[in-house]
Amino acid sequence: MNPELLTREALDAFAASHRADFEHELKTLVEIPSVSADPARAGDVQRCAEAAKDLFERHGGKAEILDTPGNPLIHGWFGEDPALPTITVYNHMDVQPANEPEWKAEPFQFVVDGDTYRGRGSTDDKGPAVTAFFGALAAVKAGVPLNIHFLWELEEEIGSPNFESGLKAHAHRLKTDAIVVSDTVWITRGKPSTPAGLRGLKGFRLTLETADHDLHSGVVGGAARNPLSELIELVGQMMDGNTGKVKIPGFYDEVIPPTEEEIEGWKHSGFTTETFMKDHMLKGLRVDDPIKILKRVWGKPTMEIHGVVGGYTGPGIKSAVPARAEVKVSCRLVPDMDEETTMARIRKFVKKHNPDVELHEEHGLAPFKGHTTGKYAGAIRQAYQFAFGAPCTFTREGGSIGAVKTMEDLLGCEVYFLGLSLPEHGYHAPNENYDWEQASGGIVAFAHYFETVSGFKK
Ligand code: BES
Ligand code: MN
Ligand code: MN
Repeated sequence: MNPELLTREALDAFAASHRADFEHELKTLVEIPSVSADPARAGDVQRCAEAAKDLFERHGGKAEILDTPGNPLIHGWFGEDPALPTITVYNHMDVQPANEPEWKAEPFQFVVDGDTYRGRGSTDDKGPAVTAFFGALAAVKAGVPLNIHFLWELEEEIGSPNFESGLKAHAHRLKTDAIVVSDTVWITRGKPSTPAGLRGLKGFRLTLETADHDLHSGVVGGAARNPLSELIELVGQMMDGNTGKVKIPGFYDEVIPPTEEEIEGWKHSGFTTETFMKDHMLKGLRVDDPIKILKRVWGKPTMEIHGVVGGYTGPGIKSAVPARAEVKVSCRLVPDMDEETTMARIRKFVKKHNPDVELHEEHGLAPFKGHTTGKYAGAIRQAYQFAFGAPCTFTREGGSIGAVKTMEDLLGCEVYFLGLSLPEHGYHAPNENYDWEQASGGIVAFAHYFETVSGFKK
């Protein structure tokens, strides 16, 4: 190992001298519309896997495309010496759809605007993936004695439905000492944060049919059942639409509240109500106190109504009683809730309050509780401090990454986060972007992280 190539100055110089290469590789990946939710993009998803494999091979690494019953996984690596420790970096290469009208340029055209990179997937999650990749190149160049592996998923944005079976099938190829995920958001620029918890997610649909077809509301109205109003009534019984409080008995029973120590950390995370509202262009909130907001987003489960389908939605009013209706719902779950217990309570509640309503469940994601202490957490702290000159806070995330709990369980190792995205990068939003400050700092942070963990005993 050559420590001279691992100083802050040397790594800054490495990042600067690789900027054009970084931008070229990120452009290649962003310009492949790997939208996992869109069956018409299946060819692009495959093309993305091949481009990723090619990226490793062109830079002196190895790579393989691992099949799953759904989209493939990409496994790339530098080093496979059984005498050395192994670290695996997880990212996802699939992206959200990009049909919002507010895009200023074609979403799958990579736009470089000064230090800003725009395009779908630039920050979620191709930019951080390519950043970690260049961090690995810097570590490899310096001879850091570590097997650096990458696992890139292509179904994260649809809830990782085949990740578990894919991982089971290929686990023998993916043995690792620890995992680091780069797919999370800081609270604000200049203040790194790393989550020690993620929420899980469980979606379901409620449907009700009360007639064969829509009917005249003057002819049958008053006597005929209305599936839209019944579903709205049921939803009102399930939760308080104003406060968000879920009224299903036992819903909150398994929730582990944040510790005093966690809350103390959150107070120093840089979070303010004002920037939260501004970053997300919110027009109002259910609560104003910053800690109350964080407890709700990071520490509590939710029930969210995403859509109501049914009836007439054209101009004016059509005097009909609809025949069928649907409500799309999901719950964010927190540790130590589990999907099955929660759904059993919801099923029982629906059956009791409206036995004709059908409940259709989607694939669920487990919540995750991570660690804030220990050598790997220390390595994350050190990496952020070294690269960004600021301490990181351990927070939690309100979002979900299905693969995390699965990797912890199936690979039998701990999972940590070295995220690089910022709120203003616009996860899932039009004009999604990433920037060179986060990328260059991230390259340095990853290189330093690899150096630190290379010293951990196997
Ligand atoms: N990178 C996000 C997860 C995330 C969101 C981390 C917010 C930190 C803050 C991930 O790509 C994502 O969007 N997950 C989805 C999963 C869903 C579509 C199944 C989510 O959380 O909604
Ligand atoms: Mn993501
Ligand atoms: Mn996402």
